[in-house]
Amino acid sequence: MLARSAIRTLSSQSRMFSSSASRQFKVAVLGAGGGIGQPLSLLLKLDPLVTELNLYDIRGAPGVAADVSHVDTNSEVKGFAADKLDEALDGTRVIVIPAGVPRKPGMTRDDLFNTNASIVRDLAAAIGRVSPQACICVISNPVNSTVPIVAATLEKQGVFDPKRLFGVTTLDVVRAARFLGGIQGVDPKQTPVTVVGGHSGATIVPLLSQNSHGKGLKGETYEKLVHRIQFGGDEVVKAKDGAGSATLSMAYAGARFTNSVLRGLNGEKGLVTPTFVKSPLFADQGVDFFSSNVELGPNGVEKIHPIGPISPEEEKLLQACLPDLKKNIEKGKAFVAQS
Ligand code: NAI
Repeated sequence: MLARSAIRTLSSQSRMFSSSASRQFKVAVLGAGGGIGQPLSLLLKLDPLVTELNLYDIRGAPGVAADVSHVDTNSEVKGFAADKLDEALDGTRVIVIPAGVPRKPGMTRDDLFNTNASIVRDLAAAIGRVSPQACICVISNPVNSTVPIVAATLEKQGVFDPKRLFGVTTLDVVRAARFLGGIQGVDPKQTPVTVVGGHSGATIVPLLSQNSHGKGLKGETYEKLVHRIQFGGDEVVKAKDGAGSATLSMAYAGARFTNSVLRGLNGEKGLVTPTFVKSPLFADQGVDFFSSNVELGPNGVEKIHPIGPISPEEEKLLQACLPDLKKNIEKGKAFVAQS
């Protein structure tokens, strides 16, 4: 049953790419032994743009790598134990980071800061030293803070390129499409929703008015849907009852986003998806990282799109998002400054 739609999507991409793939890429997963890391590694093994897959974790990565390596696609998979981080990063073009602890019931993503901030900072420092040319996709929460932590760590080393750092907010986009499709009784492919802002609670701002199926929603139906998109992660945390947060849907979202980054690096045009990047859109309000539609290309970020026309309700959501997001970003920056 594992993420069958993910496999279908990736295998349709595989068909799409079998004739056109001109370059292929070495990809590393840091945190590959975890709840997200394992299925994410499997899905990346199915991606035809990945030729080499380096799996790193402080525990369990060689076992996951041995297992995944038997899947009959062309890529080489290697596992790296705790003391082999530099080897795992060497020569990589894209690095995906799901390392760190997940939420338990009652926790916010910010409650993870104390543990995950130092994990992400230390991994970023190793990337800056060994593989500064790589595109970095950060999954570890709180994304609103961990992305600024990676940026500030690389900045300290003099190797930060904002075109190559992405916070993975794709799960919010996936949930929004699925939930809106469910309400309207249509295939979620017809209900793509641009989700902007950040990746936690009120900082998640779905722009339902920009989709023909979403723009007519009003009143309680609208409010409940917005709340579900913003707090959908809590449903999973509650249902898993202490055993973690979203892993399978996140692995699907992470593999899909990584595939988009790889397709951009490969020269494909017109790849536009929301992701949390260093952004000028609200920088004048002190919010210098923001998720909006971003065009991906051979250098990573090619173009940051403006948020476009929004409804008065969405304007209110945006105004609620910005102060929280600012605090989360500043917290990440302050952590690195004090390190
Ligand atoms: P998990 O606990 O199952 O796995 C985390 C893995 O990270 C473990 O295997 C652990 O050994 C490893 N790890 C810890 N420190 C490490 C280090 N220094 N270097 C390499 N690996 C290290 O957790 P899960 O469920 O996989 O979640 C991972 C992270 O992803 C959490 O922070 C979670 O909040 C976040 N997440 C993000 C989402 C998003 O939309 N961006 C959605 C869901 C979860």
